[in-house]
Amino acid sequence: MHVEWDVEAASKAGYEHFMLKEIHEQPKGITDTLEKRLDEKGFIKLDDIRLTKEQLEDISKVYVVACGTAYHAGLVGRYAIEKFVKIPVEVEIASEFRYRDPFVDDKTLVIIVSQSGETLDTLAALRHAKKKGARILSITNVVGSSIARESDDVFYTWAGPEIAVASTKAYTTQIVSFYMIALYMALKLGRMDEKEYKRIIEEIKLTSGKVQQIIDQDSKLVEIAKAIMDRQHGFFLGRGLDYNTAMEGSLKMKEVSYIHTEAFAAGELKHGSIALIEEGTPVIGIASQENLFEKIVSNMKEVKARGAFVVAIAQEGNTEVEKVADMVFYIPKVDSLLASILTVVPLQLIAYHVAVLKGCDVDKPRNLAKSVTVE
Ligand code: G6P
Repeated sequence: MHVEWDVEAASKAGYEHFMLKEIHEQPKGITDTLEKRLDEKGFIKLDDIRLTKEQLEDISKVYVVACGTAYHAGLVGRYAIEKFVKIPVEVEIASEFRYRDPFVDDKTLVIIVSQSGETLDTLAALRHAKKKGARILSITNVVGSSIARESDDVFYTWAGPEIAVASTKAYTTQIVSFYMIALYMALKLGRMDEKEYKRIIEEIKLTSGKVQQIIDQDSKLVEIAKAIMDRQHGFFLGRGLDYNTAMEGSLKMKEVSYIHTEAFAAGELKHGSIALIEEGTPVIGIASQENLFEKIVSNMKEVKARGAFVVAIAQEGNTEVEKVADMVFYIPKVDSLLASILTVVPLQLIAYHVAVLKGCDVDKPRNLAKSVTVE
């Protein structure tokens, strides 16, 4: 059984599709998720999370468990928690976690991520972790959902209802949620000084306007979509946080446009998969991480030399990519640490436009359900 929803009952507010509407709602989702939880002094207040400092000190490990897009948000979450809180984090797909005997005990914080709060595998994973004594913190978009009800603490994303099957605004708000949880924990545990904490919060605030700037350049993304829409296969490349974005970009493309794409950690490509590159194969390379910029550009060169049609997503000013890429889309300048909030947006829009150009059912792609409540 799948959770059913009535498309016509919800409003598209003048947009052709819910997916496009929801992509456009991301600046608001980011602002709401962040700013509704800042006190007058700019500190994060998490009234719903009752973890005390002592309980936080007791946590030796974090497990993030989710499915689909929420799993990809979890991969970004790992990066944030490890970097700020300095505790080890594992991220696992719920359908795998629930049938394993993972190292989870009463010193483990398990973070369950689910837009709907109803995904069966994710709920089963929650129960599995709970039985082992873990404390459960969920990140969900639906108040009163099964996952929210069974968790010890809940962090609600303020994305608003997400109707399109392909998740967009839930993802960006889940990422913001992870940054906030990580910052909150880091400050409470004294692992980050106040100046850095405040700096990052200010940077997150700015991402909302930057996402809007990306949306405003949509016509460039339509051109990219036109250039790749007739292809059967394609690849997404990234390193570090950009690898996670590559995975989400690839999922979006498969879900709505039915083009078979794969995401690769760019450095791994040469260990086999580069054999798949042919004349004209589209390769979307994400190059937002300053410290890895040269490396990813060199990976783009490798595929270009084998005939790939290279599309680069880079930060404004990094014009070096123009030497190797056939098409470039620039995102506004951003701290590499937070770039994942931005880099996914052009990929969502490219996938959307390819789907529209191909005449696919964008909001209800074949074989998919918004919330999977069966195994
Ligand atoms: C389904 C949806 C995906 C979603 C996944 C997890 O497969 O089609 O878009 O990412 O479920 O959903 P959840 O509600 O748990 O985040």
